[in-house]
Amino acid sequence: MKSTHLAAAVLAGLLSIAPAWAAEAPRLVAKDGRHALLVDGKPFLILGAQAHNSSNYPAGLGPVWAAANDLKANTVLMPVAWEQVEPEEGRFDFSFVDTLVQQARQQNKRLVLLWFATWKNTSAQYTPAWVKLAPQRFPAMRDKDGKASYCLSPFGTETLKHDKRAFVALMTHLKKIDAQQRTVLMVQVQNEVGTYGLVRDFAPAAQAAFEQPVPAAVLARQKPKLAATGNWREVYGDYADEYFHAWAIARYIGEIAAAGRAVYDLPMFVNNALRNPLEQPPKPWANNFSSGGPSWDVIDIYKAAAPAVDIVGPDLYNAESAQVEANLRLFQRADNALWVPEIGSKSAYGRYLYSMLGRGAIGVSPFGMDYFDYSNHPLGATATDKTIVEPFERVYRMFAPIQRQWAQWAFDGKVRGVGEADDRKPQQLDFPGWTAKLTYRLGRFGEASWGPEFAKPAPGTEEPNGGAAMAQLGPDEFLLIGQRVRVRMEPAEGSSGMMLRAEQGRFDAQGRWVMERVWNGDQVDWGLNLPTEPVMLKITMARPH
Ligand code: DGJ
Repeated sequence: MKSTHLAAAVLAGLLSIAPAWAAEAPRLVAKDGRHALLVDGKPFLILGAQAHNSSNYPAGLGPVWAAANDLKANTVLMPVAWEQVEPEEGRFDFSFVDTLVQQARQQNKRLVLLWFATWKNTSAQYTPAWVKLAPQRFPAMRDKDGKASYCLSPFGTETLKHDKRAFVALMTHLKKIDAQQRTVLMVQVQNEVGTYGLVRDFAPAAQAAFEQPVPAAVLARQKPKLAATGNWREVYGDYADEYFHAWAIARYIGEIAAAGRAVYDLPMFVNNALRNPLEQPPKPWANNFSSGGPSWDVIDIYKAAAPAVDIVGPDLYNAESAQVEANLRLFQRADNALWVPEIGSKSAYGRYLYSMLGRGAIGVSPFGMDYFDYSNHPLGATATDKTIVEPFERVYRMFAPIQRQWAQWAFDGKVRGVGEADDRKPQQLDFPGWTAKLTYRLGRFGEASWGPEFAKPAPGTEEPNGGAAMAQLGPDEFLLIGQRVRVRMEPAEGSSGMMLRAEQGRFDAQGRWVMERVWNGDQVDWGLNLPTEPVMLKITMARPH
């Protein structure tokens, strides 16, 4: 064989396995309890924008791209509904997905797809009509008296079979259209699953399963409460119904996710309509949250029953700082990357981007970043125009040019951050060797103790809306990004230290620092007083000897 023929044959062989030009598949990696989403082989920070629920049609996309671009988002989260891709049983139509992926590429955006199917905010509203109209075939959950719930049963074998088939068809299609470019980064399987008003399914098949021994995989993760082994009631007592329902739903979703990944392996996640994170220890379900959803106290059950689901993410719609911070803490685990698929669009949420990105989240996505004429107030902002993106754009604008770098620093454990608390009290960010002290509601000159004129807070600080995120670039060097906060660096206890230099600047397209001015004099005498519009400072600390 001539060498050119040999080369061609080798090339053809390689191409049939993996085209040489195909981008590496997005995947999650973990190190020392931290996480990164690798996109094209490198950590990627999702600065997301989630569309409204009914924007998943070609006509809905224009207002979504407009908002995502204004926001400086790099990724759009978009529903794909079972009802739209399988309008008649067995007939699949992925034309919307084709349009979406094509337009996302033109807009230079990545995508996260949200599979709205058996459960969307727990209900079956996104299932095709042929599912909705056949309750014998696709059964609802039943209460103790046999009365049907609005929610489909996780024991509906036909429901699972058909949801899974449609999802596999979607993933097969995605592989066909996107395995080379990797515009789609992750897939959410169902949306805010669980059930309101009923703790679990009491229909005969479900009841029989409830009386079985708790599976070993669950016992190994979700700590038994009463007995080490036995049926759900024996092991988990008053928590048994809720835990059992979580297991049933997780198993159902896990089976769908695994089947989808078998054809096209993308990271997959579920999102959670949260229970109150401040109720500690959490009490058994009392009709006060969606039973069976992946709330923080049953993440272990989801991990056991749905290993194909990588992440459980919190949907943050309570803007109280104590709630937000508690949720971030509870959902960030060595086995669960912090990923916030939804936060409300009210301006009060903007500051929490500093908490999320500072904690090393793989990404965040405000909900309803979409100029469709609809507002989900009171969960989100009342406006439907450009003002909805502003509180988030303010922060995205700082992180967008360095998103890859920030994601790498986060993966390496170098970042910290926090949004201002509702009580406006000081906070601190602890780094090896140094602590950043953050204070709020101050003027930008002098000390409040000097008198009423000096104690007057800077305009724009009436509501808590400050925050800061920092990366430790070297033992004595920091990058600080923040707004409406006074930052003072202090050496670790017992040592002395001083701020040698504070440069305001930015990173250029090649990732090189561009110094724009040095802060000194008034700008450093009373701490670093960051204004309403965020700034980026590179700070060099020193220990004189
Ligand atoms: C959370 C859900 O996941 C979203 O799809 C949406 O319904 C919001 N709640 C409310 O706007």
